[in-house]
Amino acid sequence: MEIFKEIHPLKTFLTDKRTQGSLIGLVPTMGALHRGHVSLVQASRKQNDVTVCSIYINPTQFNNPDDLLKYPRTLEEDLGMLKKAGCDAVFYPENTEMYPEKSVLRMDFGLLDKVMEGQYRPGHFSGVALVVCKFFNVVQPDHAYFGQKDFQQFAIIQKLVDELKFGLTLHRVETLREPDGLAMSSRNLRLDAIEREKAIVFYQSLLKAKNAIAEGHPISIAKKIVEEEFQKRSVKLEYFEVADSKNLNLLESVNDTKNRPIMCIAGYVGEIRLIDNMFLD
Ligand code: PAJ
Repeated sequence: MEIFKEIHPLKTFLTDKRTQGSLIGLVPTMGALHRGHVSLVQASRKQNDVTVCSIYINPTQFNNPDDLLKYPRTLEEDLGMLKKAGCDAVFYPENTEMYPEKSVLRMDFGLLDKVMEGQYRPGHFSGVALVVCKFFNVVQPDHAYFGQKDFQQFAIIQKLVDELKFGLTLHRVETLREPDGLAMSSRNLRLDAIEREKAIVFYQSLLKAKNAIAEGHPISIAKKIVEEEFQKRSVKLEYFEVADSKNLNLLESVNDTKNRPIMCIAGYVGEIRLIDNMFLD
């Protein structure tokens, strides 16, 4: 497995591969890797000759400086996991490589970056889109892999690829969960034993809400059920929404769209912010 800290040698390596006719897959990450990330690498390996994984904690997407400071950093373990997963190249740049000058570019995605995560993390998606554009330009992948876990992020990157005509295919990979249903996340590493137990509330309340809606109850009742579940376990709910998965319009009734509705949820277990989502069908 090759490791690159700089753009130029990575580009030379990839140009060489491309002239040999290799298909290139990209998996962008911020490290602290878990099996969810590995499943993205595996998906890429199936469809490409060369899989590149980036590990970069992108400062422009953190609206909370403390979150950036405390973001887990586990490089040695990450490299071990990637090697074992059969990743071909790792791009692990410093801030000076990605942002040689303070960035002034901002991206606006209309409704897509205003609702849900956008409401609680202003500027977050602009930072995500900016760094993902940089990775797409550097790697020029044929395929790129993102997780269902960050559904709104996926919708925004899809928009980016379509509007800017990156000419690559995006893939949305299923959320990998712990045996009790908790979505795998790098942030789970920061939960203590009691918080870890409480964190199951995200998955469990999504299931309860889904059942309620399947039984014909309105979304407002599903919201109440979720709020009660969170209160019972003293976990702070930030939002629970049902959205149109195509345009992220927030729905009051599942009959308000012909597209697949998706439930999205965010909250804090202690100081740790977690998100999850589930399609309604
Ligand atoms: P990060 O949180 O490290 O996630 C990297 C990728 O792994 C994302 O596409 C995310 O959706 C996916 N992922 C996370 N948990 C997952 C799980 N349990 N199952 C499947 N996939 C999962 O998302 C980011 O980094 C950053 O915003 C990034 C896109 C790298 C830009 O900086």
